[in-house]
Amino acid sequence: MTKDIVCSGIRPTGNLHLGNYFGALRNFVAMQDEYDCYFFIADYHSLTTHPTPGSIYDDARRILVQYLACGLDPERSTIYLQSDLPETVELYLFLNMNAYLGELERVTSFKDKVRQNPNNVNAGLLTYPTLMAADILIHKATKVPVGKDQEQHLEMTRTFAQRFNNMYHSECFPLPQAVGFGQQLVKIPALNGAGKMGKSEGEASTIFLTDEPDVIRKKIMKAKSDSGPTEPNQTKPEEIENLFTLLRVVSTADTVEHFDHLYNTCQIRYGDLKKQLAEDMEKFIAPFRERIKELEADDARLRRIMDLGRDKAHASASRTLSEVRRTIGYRN
Ligand code: TYM
Repeated sequence: MTKDIVCSGIRPTGNLHLGNYFGALRNFVAMQDEYDCYFFIADYHSLTTHPTPGSIYDDARRILVQYLACGLDPERSTIYLQSDLPETVELYLFLNMNAYLGELERVTSFKDKVRQNPNNVNAGLLTYPTLMAADILIHKATKVPVGKDQEQHLEMTRTFAQRFNNMYHSECFPLPQAVGFGQQLVKIPALNGAGKMGKSEGEASTIFLTDEPDVIRKKIMKAKSDSGPTEPNQTKPEEIENLFTLLRVVSTADTVEHFDHLYNTCQIRYGDLKKQLAEDMEKFIAPFRERIKELEADDARLRRIMDLGRDKAHASASRTLSEVRRTIGYRN
């Protein structure tokens, strides 16, 4: 029986963080045995916001190391650099022909980027969702492990796939779904009490898989909290709920219950909660940090893994692209 196809990627902008792990990577690792998996490093996408990246190859290599440290296995999954698969770019061009300005301008992530950086509204940024759709559709993937913030992009991928199928009276593309851990797509909050963890909320609000113990402790002790509940069983304000969300991902159920009880009975001391959270976070991060250090020195192995991934990804992508070209009516 053929396996369902899974595809997803992460942009190489700095080190991977807790949001990347719980939103995406944990699921990549868990899906490797059951599915035919393609995991890439989105080093074309990074050009949309970083038009002159310092060291694009080093950034991509760093993410490869971090993928491996989290448990991605080049024997069981196809792991590759997006820029090693130029077939994606040809499919991106075809999809762009049927992607409309109005729908691209309405994408939330595009509007956010325009607000953050009004002097760099380039066409790549506008067509970010079509490149993402090309990444997924080039392998005819049906399952895409991502965090909550990518939901809209997946909706657009389905729109583009369906539109292509209708336009050319074909069944070339399946309609892929975003998948989370269990039923839900995950959002890991930033430590500053607002928004999601990630680069845009700043490094001080983000726990990276490479953070040393003292860095983790400092970041968590500075996390936003309030002056505490004044009535029993009060609804938690966002910044407090966020601390509990982090506790839920790295601490035991008993620990969560303990602090929940203290909150509900107005006895909570946030200093104690943060100390416990920092301790559990360090226990969680330490093995990743150590494996990253071990793996990053073996340049020859990393290059072999990239080559293997490129060849496997190419085999799948060239099949799809031949079919797409034939479907549109080009010579193959
Ligand atoms: P990127 O690089 O911003 O994030 C990579 C993955 O990490 C997830 N993520 C989070 N999940 C939960 N909580 C958070 N705080 C958090 N921060 C990040 C994201 O949801 C994502 O799954 N457009 C993608 C990269 C991409 C892609 C693709 C993904 C390019 N082509 C094709 C899937 C399929 C992005 O920028 O993710």
